This record gives sequence, structure tokens and C-alpha cells, in this order.
Amino acid sequence: MKIIGFSSGVVERESNVDRMVKAIMEKSGYESEFIKLTDLNYSACKSCVWLCAEPQLCLLEDDLLPYYQKVKEADAVVLGSPIHFGTVSAGMLSFISRLWGFRHVTISIKNKPFVLALSGMGFEQNDTSVDDFKRPLKAFQVNILDVISYYSRIPPCYRCGRHQECRIGGAYMLWGEKTSTLPITPELFQKWEDSSETVDKIEAAAEKLNKTFSIS
Ligand SMILES: Cc1cc2nc3c(=O)[nH]c(=O)nc-3n(C[C@H](O)[C@H](O)[C@H](O)COP(=O)(O)O)c2cc1C
Repeated sequence: MKIIGFSSGVVERESNVDRMVKAIMEKSGYESEFIKLTDLNYSACKSCVWLCAEPQLCLLEDDLLPYYQKVKEADAVVLGSPIHFGTVSAGMLSFISRLWGFRHVTISIKNKPFVLALSGMGFEQNDTSVDDFKRPLKAFQVNILDVISYYSRIPPCYRCGRHQECRIGGAYMLWGEKTSTLPITPELFQKWEDSSETVDKIEAAAEKLNKTFSIS
């Protein structure tokens, strides 16, 4: 049994999203491979769907090319995304759009188990990320076992160096006027591993993956 996991998590560092994807796979007990989409160069689907119909594979030659076969062959897929503008990141949606080649005449990833993970700062107004993650995957009739959302309260501006003067960014949304004197300390970079609720959800998702295979 092999699980493949993709994360569109924050560039450079190992983000909550990355670690959530890795943990779900590792805790399932099966062999796994992790791919950080943010480190790859690829575009969204360009709608040339008459070209992917015959090979049942996207023909755009960019960094995603080696991964279609791996998605097809994997027994399960874990996808992780940060929340951007209340929804799934553009990088993740672009990745999902490129799976369109699997959906001609037959659906070659139909019923494949998927687990989805999201991490956001915690700006919850108009957050439709869970439904937005599931919606494009419905086109592939995959079996979504679980969706996990974690709110890390890490705005990108914790690293920008100008948070004390900014009245627009996420730090100000979280801290209000306190932001003008706020020192950025390591404790502010919250980890899902410190949230017992999220640990339970990750373990439950891994267990669902494990059970899916043990009864099939
Ligand atoms: C372009 C952009 C838009 C964002 N929009 C939201 C948002 O609408 N809601 C939210 O909770 N967080 C938002 N964030 C914050 C990120 O979700 C947060 O920094 C990210 O989850 C941190 O990831 P990590 O927990 O994996 O480190 C946004 C970040 C960026 C870069």
C-alpha cells in the first residue's frame, strides 16, 4: 500500500500544512511519498481538454509531469493547503485542475481514498475552504475520507518585518493596537502538534486510511 501526499504549504519552512500531510501519511502506517507543490513550477489547467482525452493524462510539460502516474498508482492521496482568501490556495486548486486528464470516458481515480488538510490564520469570516476543497474533487468521484482544518494564527506578516507599522495585515487583525509594540517570538508560530483537538483529528484521519486498506 502506498500513499502520496501533496502540500501547497508556505514556501521555505516546514509549515503546519506540510507536517499535517506528512503526519496523516506516517500515522496510517503505510509507505508514503511527500511532494511540496510550492517548490514546483506548474500552471493551472489551460483547458486544452481535447489533448488529454486520449492519453487520459495532462500533456503540459512542467514540473507536475512525473506525478500523474504516481497519483494513479497510489492507493490513497493526502492533499494539504493553506487557507487563502477564505478558500483553498491557488496552488492547490491549480494542481487539482491538472488532474482533469483522469476524467475522460472513464474516471481513472474513481473511489480512490483522499484525506484533505487545511491550515489558516484563523480569519474565519466567509471561510468556505472545506466545501471549496471538496467541490473540484467531486468531478473525480474520489472517496473523501476526512477533511481537517487547523487555525494556526500565523499571519504571513510575522516574518515581514513591518508588522509594527502595518494596520492592514493579519498581525493587526489578530492583535489590534498591541501590534505596534509586538515582538515576534518563536511561541507565536503555533504548531498543530500542540493542539490536542487537531492531534486527535489527524490520528482519526490516519486511522480511517489504515482501516480502508485493512478491510479491502
Ligand atoms: C495570500 C494569503 C491569503 C490569506 N488569506 C487567509 C484567509 O482568508 N484566512 C485565514 O485564516 N488565513 C489566511 N492567510 C494566512 C495563512 O492561511 C496562514 O499564514 C497559513 O495558514 C500559515 O500556514 P501554516 O499554518 O501551514 O504555517 C492568508 C495568507 C496568504 C499568504
